[in-house]
Amino acid sequence: MLKKTVEDICNRQIEREGFSANLYLAMASWAETNGMSGVAQWLYAQAEEEKLHMLKFMKYINERGGKAVIPALEKPRSEFNDIEDVFREVLNHEEFVTGSINEIVSLTLEEKDFNTHNFLQWFVFEQVEEEASVRTILDKIKLLGKTNMYQFDRDIMSLRSPAASSQPTA
Ligand code: FEO
Repeated sequence: MLKKTVEDICNRQIEREGFSANLYLAMASWAETNGMSGVAQWLYAQAEEEKLHMLKFMKYINERGGKAVIPALEKPRSEFNDIEDVFREVLNHEEFVTGSINEIVSLTLEEKDFNTHNFLQWFVFEQVEEEASVRTILDKIKLLGKTNMYQFDRDIMSLRSPAASSQPTA
């Protein structure tokens, strides 16, 4: 049985993963309507992963005797200056999510909830992968320069890491 403190913080994470999915969908829509179908494809795939992260938390809470709650989500930003602006925002957001996961890990140690601690390890590794993948993209944008966005848009899907494209079991 989950302690209430752990249940609540895991429910907070459901909201954050759901917001991540919506943020990346908003970015995908911006990219798609600005002629960058490759970038949009990357962001749609990322949004799908975030939905799976949300589901993983939902199923975990319910399996451990808690109740997953589906939250109302804040409207994400939908306008961006350029592609670098998009991926800087993705990185900022992923760093925020990493901090959020680390707070849950820390609470599970305080509460001596080693089952949840174990469950969270998948997310700890996933965050390392996600941040690294976005930093690689920002490096490529810097290398190519903003004048060569055609090539960047064409090649971006090849920058998805194998771990990022794997489907977690929800
Ligand atoms: Fe589910 Fe990208 O953090």
